Amino acid sequence: MVIKGIIFDLDGVLVFTDKFHYLAWKKVADKLGIYFDEKINNRLRGVSRMASLEIILENYHGEVLSAQQKEEIAAEKNEYYRSFLAKMRPEDVDIETRSTLAELRRRGYKLALGSSSKNAKFILSQVGLTSAFDAISDGNNITHSKPNPEVFLKAAEFLNLCPGQCAVVEDAYAGIDAAKEGGMLAVAIGDATSYEKDDIKLKKFSDLLKHFK
Ligand code: BG6
Ligand code: MG
Repeated sequence: MVIKGIIFDLDGVLVFTDKFHYLAWKKVADKLGIYFDEKINNRLRGVSRMASLEIILENYHGEVLSAQQKEEIAAEKNEYYRSFLAKMRPEDVDIETRSTLAELRRRGYKLALGSSSKNAKFILSQVGLTSAFDAISDGNNITHSKPNPEVFLKAAEFLNLCPGQCAVVEDAYAGIDAAKEGGMLAVAIGDATSYEKDDIKLKKFSDLLKHFK
């Protein structure tokens, strides 16, 4: 099927907020005496906030936490995280990324965001990327996060395209699984290029222009 739409993951593809997630979770984990490192942080890619907390709590050995306590911990993490996001600026997006998105659009592709984050719109507005997209599907319009394909299927629906007409650009294994599960072309960048399930591997973001003419 001819590809007419391209759906982009946000964290690790367009912007690099991993370190902010790490610092915010680290602060919360330290407070609770939970061991947390960059390796565990890597497992949180593409995973929803509450599912991320469950992964972090694998190393928690204190008293059982209620659902409300977990909500409070996640809310505290989000407050720290948003204090980092508030400092993001347009300069945090590579010129190569910005110009590639513009050129893909000029070539007639419809562009969507497909992110598990509930902060996606805030991030896009901080870095001045909101208008680069025709549709935004994020953590606020889904009930299952990646590797479930829901966020990408919604993005395709928002673009008025069927899944087979869409490509997904992802840096996380969970995102590549979600794209394949959704019946889309899976384009890997960064970490995801070491996965064997993708259809296309990108060395750099602007390589998209070689594959989508
Ligand atoms: C994804 C990140 O984009 O968003 C995950 O890769 C994160 O690490 C998830 O947990 C949810 O983010 P937020 O902003 O809704 O807490
Ligand atoms: Mg990502």
